[in-house]
Amino acid sequence: MKGAIMAAAALIPMVALLFSVSSAYPAPSGQLDPHFYDHSCPKAQQIVASIVGKTHYQDPRMAASLLRLHFHDCFVKGCDASILLDSSGSIVSEKRSNPNKDSARGFEVVDEIKSALEAACPGTVSCADILALVARDSVVMTGGPGWIVPLGRRDSRGASVQGSNNDIPAPNNTLPTIITKFKLQGLDIVDLVALLGSHTIGDSRCTSFRQRLYNQTGNGLPDNKLDVSYAAALRPRCPRSGGDQNLFFLDPVTPFKFDNQYYKNLLAYRGLLASDEVLFTDSPATTELVKLYAANQDIFFQHFAQSMVKMGNISPLTGANGEIRKVCRRVNHN
Ligand code: HEM
Repeated sequence: MKGAIMAAAALIPMVALLFSVSSAYPAPSGQLDPHFYDHSCPKAQQIVASIVGKTHYQDPRMAASLLRLHFHDCFVKGCDASILLDSSGSIVSEKRSNPNKDSARGFEVVDEIKSALEAACPGTVSCADILALVARDSVVMTGGPGWIVPLGRRDSRGASVQGSNNDIPAPNNTLPTIITKFKLQGLDIVDLVALLGSHTIGDSRCTSFRQRLYNQTGNGLPDNKLDVSYAAALRPRCPRSGGDQNLFFLDPVTPFKFDNQYYKNLLAYRGLLASDEVLFTDSPATTELVKLYAANQDIFFQHFAQSMVKMGNISPLTGANGEIRKVCRRVNHN
């Protein structure tokens, strides 16, 4: 009985998902098209949403992990599912890169979605589009905004571990470096501050922020942009050495809810990563946006949805470029 109630409860966000998708934010014109699979695979979006919904019920962190995969895909050679390729032949998997190793997850969920789509409409829906759809569905499942996802991306026939290392910002990058890395992808300061609101869900490992707790600038002192009592609460499970893989909520206040709490944390110097807190401390333009989103969740949601569409538009392969992989982990044979 309890199981049935929980299963029913898990369906509520899924129903919300199906409605929100048709109503929310319009897609900008571009090479991609929200109706791309309307005739070739009319059930594509439903299939994706139902598997994301089922997974969310089994593992509430997975929404965050799936959202991050789309970001780590798009920042490396564009949104082309390069992150999903395993190493083989001449391909060195991006899964081995610094930002992804021991960290990126959700690949089995993508495999399951791809198998279901191949059964329904073989050779039709790209792995890159699956990532764009699961990112949107994951945000909706956790209470965030919906948006219409432009579709028609094709999949790469290669990966770039070097691109993954260089192009994805690191948590100890300075704000100017982070701004530059976003600019290289055609994303501006509004996109940066809005998209980082993704850190309202999900986890970070100790190794990604340890430096802040003990020796931020090489003078043996903790980061002075980190609340003292928050730092003290983090230290026991993130010691000077060891515990690298220990997990911490990026937003400890509402860790599974997609809301604007992330920005409220930044105002209190309780951003977990250095790259989070600098949005509030290091430039007047980003500070203003942090304050705006902390005060107004609706504007955050609106900007976030727009910026996700923009990120999803980074250099897609279309037309005759790339391929529709049969299995997301490997390229098709000729
Ligand atoms: C300056 C840019 C960014 C930096 C430096 C950054 C860095 C990080 C780091 C270090 C982690 C924790 C990884 C670990 O320790 O295992 C993380 C997690 C995460 N990031 Fe970012 N990130 C950035 C932007 C973004 C963007 C644009 C998105 C989405 C659009 C995003 C979504 C996420 C999510 C959802 C998680 C939690 C994943 C999980 O729990 O599996 N991040 N990020």
